[in-house]
Amino acid sequence: MVITKNAQQFIDQEAKFGAHNYHPMPVVLSKGKGAFVWDVDGKKYFDFLSAYSAVNQGHCHPKIVKALCDQAQEICLTSRAFYNDCLGPYEEFATKFFGYDKLLPMNTGAEAVETALKLARRWGYVKKGIPEDKAVIVVCEGNFHGRTITVVSMSTDPESYSQYGPLTPGFIKIPYNDVAALDALLEKHGNHVAAFLLEPIQGEAGVVVPDEGYLKRCYDACKRHNVLFVADEIQTGIARTGKMICCEHENVRPDILVLGKSLSGGVLPVSAVLADDEIMLTIKPGQHGSTYGGFPLASKVATVALEVVRDEKLAERAEYLGKIFREELIKFKSPFIKQVRGKGLLNAVVTTPINGKEAWDICLKMAEYGLIAKQTHRHIIRFAPPLVITEEELREAIEIIKKAFRELE
Ligand SMILES: Cc1ncc(COP(=O)(O)O)c(C=O)c1O
Repeated sequence: MVITKNAQQFIDQEAKFGAHNYHPMPVVLSKGKGAFVWDVDGKKYFDFLSAYSAVNQGHCHPKIVKALCDQAQEICLTSRAFYNDCLGPYEEFATKFFGYDKLLPMNTGAEAVETALKLARRWGYVKKGIPEDKAVIVVCEGNFHGRTITVVSMSTDPESYSQYGPLTPGFIKIPYNDVAALDALLEKHGNHVAAFLLEPIQGEAGVVVPDEGYLKRCYDACKRHNVLFVADEIQTGIARTGKMICCEHENVRPDILVLGKSLSGGVLPVSAVLADDEIMLTIKPGQHGSTYGGFPLASKVATVALEVVRDEKLAERAEYLGKIFREELIKFKSPFIKQVRGKGLLNAVVTTPINGKEAWDICLKMAEYGLIAKQTHRHIIRFAPPLVITEEELREAIEIIKKAFRELE
């Protein structure tokens, strides 16, 4: 693809003045609307990353942007030293929306995961009676829960954790999609296990979808051993996989539900942890918090962002359109394509390199033809458009994807 001089100057500027902790595709964006984004030269693209599923409601959704602008003119930040007139209404709305007693507001996904870990450990000591400092949290190989020291301590990807030690202890890693491994571990160490934390689909690992029944069987194993089932639905939640949260596919209600990303419709960093009183009230005033967590602007934006998901029936759309996407790509025979997988509009194509061309080259070719997506790991391309995409647009996007694959064969 051609990188214009105009675009190159922004790329160079980031390289010169920004930390080198990302390797972005050479596309410089300046505008977004619904399922589309535009670059600094006015070229239009289908957005098939949606900021890692943070823009399920579409870019710059008018209702969400209006809520942001209206509230910004009243008050943005109060801190939690005082009450404000947005947080309570948001907490009531969101707890009823997801069916929990309480919500704890945070900002980024990693912070919400940290919060869930603290909550689970605290519950383990106070309610389950685990001896002090002995609480274990079971996590899955291949997980991605964020970037803080404790969160990368759970990672099995050396890119994430190496040379950041000493890491936080207290985690046991078991294979993903392996109920027997969880069962065996809980049989042996169940007394000290506070929680099992998992992603219902592993997004960053490459949209790894576990076998049907896995979530339910893990949940049941947790219940047998008085262990909390904690679902990180930061990427899979808010309608992305065809249900409001992915665990609903198996009628599982997590004991602790972790949300982020599209909770604000891609407008602000807003995350949340939901749980019932028995768990949530183990944390007392002064024992956890965040200056911005639950700030008025976020509270208003998140309320409207959830209303949009509900009113526009985005879960149903994701379910319907996801089927079309997978059907079409499975039918499409390309020597590059090893597997097409996913749920709702969280999908991935596992590729095989051909003639020295791999996922990155396919992504560049798609960008040339007007669709942006990004590979995760080396050979997997994730396809996750905003859920507001229409069927017609989706079909047009599928043709672009096919054309890019064909071109490189
Ligand atoms: C499942 C999951 N958990 C946590 C995170 C971390 O969220 P954040 O980048 O907002 O800290 C991500 C981000 O990709 C994620 O996909």
